[in-house]
Amino acid sequence: MINLQQAARDTWWIGGCDRRLALFENLFPLPDGVSYNSYVIRDEKTALFDTADISVADQYLDTLRACLGGGAPDYLVILHMEPDHAALLRQVTSMYPGVTLVSCAKSFALLDQFFDDFPAVQRLTVKEGDTLSLGAHTLHFIMAPMVHWPEVMMAYDDATGALFSADAFGTFGAPDSGIFADQYDFDRRFLSEARRYYANIVGKYGQQVQAVLKKAASLDIRAILPLHGPVWRKDIALFVDRYRQWSTCTPESDDIVLIYGSLYGHTASAADAAAVMLREKTGKNVCVYDVSKTDVSDLVGEIWRVGRIVLFCPTYNNGIYPPVRALVDDLQALMLRGRTFALAQNGSWAPASAKLLREELEKLKDVTVLDEVLTIRSALHAGDLPALEAFTDAVAAS
Ligand code: FEO
Repeated sequence: MINLQQAARDTWWIGGCDRRLALFENLFPLPDGVSYNSYVIRDEKTALFDTADISVADQYLDTLRACLGGGAPDYLVILHMEPDHAALLRQVTSMYPGVTLVSCAKSFALLDQFFDDFPAVQRLTVKEGDTLSLGAHTLHFIMAPMVHWPEVMMAYDDATGALFSADAFGTFGAPDSGIFADQYDFDRRFLSEARRYYANIVGKYGQQVQAVLKKAASLDIRAILPLHGPVWRKDIALFVDRYRQWSTCTPESDDIVLIYGSLYGHTASAADAAAVMLREKTGKNVCVYDVSKTDVSDLVGEIWRVGRIVLFCPTYNNGIYPPVRALVDDLQALMLRGRTFALAQNGSWAPASAKLLREELEKLKDVTVLDEVLTIRSALHAGDLPALEAFTDAVAAS
């Protein structure tokens, strides 16, 4: 079944949605699926932008044929060589051997690494600032290295103001009844998945995102056409501002995120008591998560959202409870910065996790770890209440 939708003047969305895939990159849960977006501009010359994941191949190729109406693309622009967009390059090129591939040198090097015996079609190598005329539409190429792969580039169509943004401005979550962000209550339907996508996939590359945002600031962008999730044709500045916030690791909310690990429920019980006190003392939302029950990518998304994080961590094998350790490893890999952490530890005979966590968290840039640490032994007791008060006072004052 074809799924062809107009995205802008002369411009068509020909992507596909996968709602069966459990883990994106075999890593990130997809409760609402994911879309693989590909686009076609039909002008005097026809340009196809990227392909799609192998999982949507049948629908994608049918839709491509329908979009081209029996014709063939003149250009296949490769913005990103990751296989969720490049998997069908060989099929498409074999179907249309007269096509010219358009991309940067790094992309072509990756293409030859991914594919043996790739069809010998023409290749046009472009670089920053190069243009390609399709007739009424002229494409301007913008290099976006390390957003989030080295070969990534974007294309700007000066006829429609459409920015083909590769993975940038993408989200997890498959649009269902329309391709445009303004057809949904975006914040309710997609925002947390957009943040989770950004933080986990692109979060490490904030500086590179800012460099691209700087280049984009000089363009009259009237639509953003990403490789995942909805297309933007309204409220573009608002979403660009979100990206500015995420790429500078600026908290969006004064909610407090409290994450606990708990083997038998005692640390969880202490964490719940602290959450109630924190809400009373701050009047803020306190969002509580069990580190063992919440996917680490969701926790990363939440930590990207807020400024204050409280960790309740058991001591385990004289070290940090493994799922908390995995979370902190992720925060280090993604180069989180500019946050305040408060640490509570449980240790029945030798509490050590707070000291070890402090050492790890203080490796992060512009991160404050509060001096006040709550230590409980096995379980929270009435005698611990003064310490719990002092701990929550310190968090409230931070
Ligand atoms: Fe959606 Fe980086 O691939």
